[in-house]
Amino acid sequence: MEKIKIILDCDPGHDDAIAMLMAARHPAIELLGITIVAGNQTLEKNLVNALNVCQLLDIDVPVYAGMKRPIMRQQIVAGDIHGETGLDGPVFGPLHRKAQPEHAVRFLIDTLLASDGDITLVPVGPLSNIAVAMRMEPAIVPKIKEIVLMGGAYGLGNTTPAAEFNIYADPEAARVVFTSGVPIVMMGLDLTNQTVCTPDIIRRMEAVGNTAGKLFGDIMRFTLNTQREFNGLEAGPVHDATCIGYLVDPACITTRDMHVVVDVNEGPCYGRTVCDEMRVRRGLVEANAKVGVGIDTARFWDLVEACLRMYS
Ligand code: RIB
Ligand code: CA
Repeated sequence: MEKIKIILDCDPGHDDAIAMLMAARHPAIELLGITIVAGNQTLEKNLVNALNVCQLLDIDVPVYAGMKRPIMRQQIVAGDIHGETGLDGPVFGPLHRKAQPEHAVRFLIDTLLASDGDITLVPVGPLSNIAVAMRMEPAIVPKIKEIVLMGGAYGLGNTTPAAEFNIYADPEAARVVFTSGVPIVMMGLDLTNQTVCTPDIIRRMEAVGNTAGKLFGDIMRFTLNTQREFNGLEAGPVHDATCIGYLVDPACITTRDMHVVVDVNEGPCYGRTVCDEMRVRRGLVEANAKVGVGIDTARFWDLVEACLRMYS
C-alpha cells in the first residue's frame, strides 16, 4: 500500500512527542520532515525537545526550526502543562542531533512546490508556520493534499472558556489556514480529550519494555499531574497523537463535516473555532472541515502500543 507522505509541524510538547514517535515508525507513513513552531514553549525549547526525542529513539528525520512568534498577538506558552523545558519529565543525555539550516517555512514551501500534490500537512501546534508559508508562496496551497490538524473545539476551550491552545496561541494564523480552501481534518478537544492516558495505560505502555515505552511513561507521568491540577482532567490526553491515529486507521475516528470559522476579534471568544455543528448555515456556506467527534479508544491505544513496539 502506498505510504502517506506527511510533514509533522509541532511544538513538543508531551503529546507532540507521542505523535512524533508514532509517525516516525508506522509503516503506513513516510515522515518527510519535522517542522518546529513556538507554542507549548519557546521555539528554542521546542526545537531542543524535538531533537532530543529524535536522538533518543534514533529517528532519522530532518528537523527544521520555524516561527518564533505568532503572526499578530503576543506570544503565550503552556508552561503550566508542559513545564519549564516544554518536555519536563524525561531526562535526556547530551544532545548531539542538529536541526537543518533551512527555516521550516522555506522547507515547507520548497517541498510542497517540488511535490506531486501528494503531501499531507499534520500541524499539532499553533499554525504560524503553515500560515506564513501559505502567505509567502500561495502556489503551495493547491499542492497540499490535506491538512490533518490538532486544534480547536466545537465545545469548550482549554486555554480560555472559548478557545483551545493551538488556535488561541495564533488565531490569525488559524484564520489563514481555515480559509485557505485546503481540505482540513480537525482533531479538536471534543475528540482528543477522549484519549485520557490513565495510570493503567501508562503502565501498559511502559511494559513494552523498550526505550520508547519508557519515554512514553516518563512523558505521560508528568502530564498526569499537570492536567489534573490545571485542567481538572483525570489524566493527560494525548491530543496530538490522534492525528496519526486518524491517518493510519481512519476507521478508529468518527468525523462530521462542519463549517468552521476562527474568531479573530478581540473579546471573550478570541481564538475560538466557531463550528456549525448543528448545520444551521447549511445551504449558505459549505463545510470546510471534517471535525472529529468520536474515537474507538481501545483501538487507538492498541495502535499506540503497536507503534511503541516498532522500536528496539
Ligand atoms: O490544546 C492541546 C494542544 O496544545 C496540543 O497540541 C498540545 O501539545 C498543546 O500544544
Ligand atoms: Ca502540540
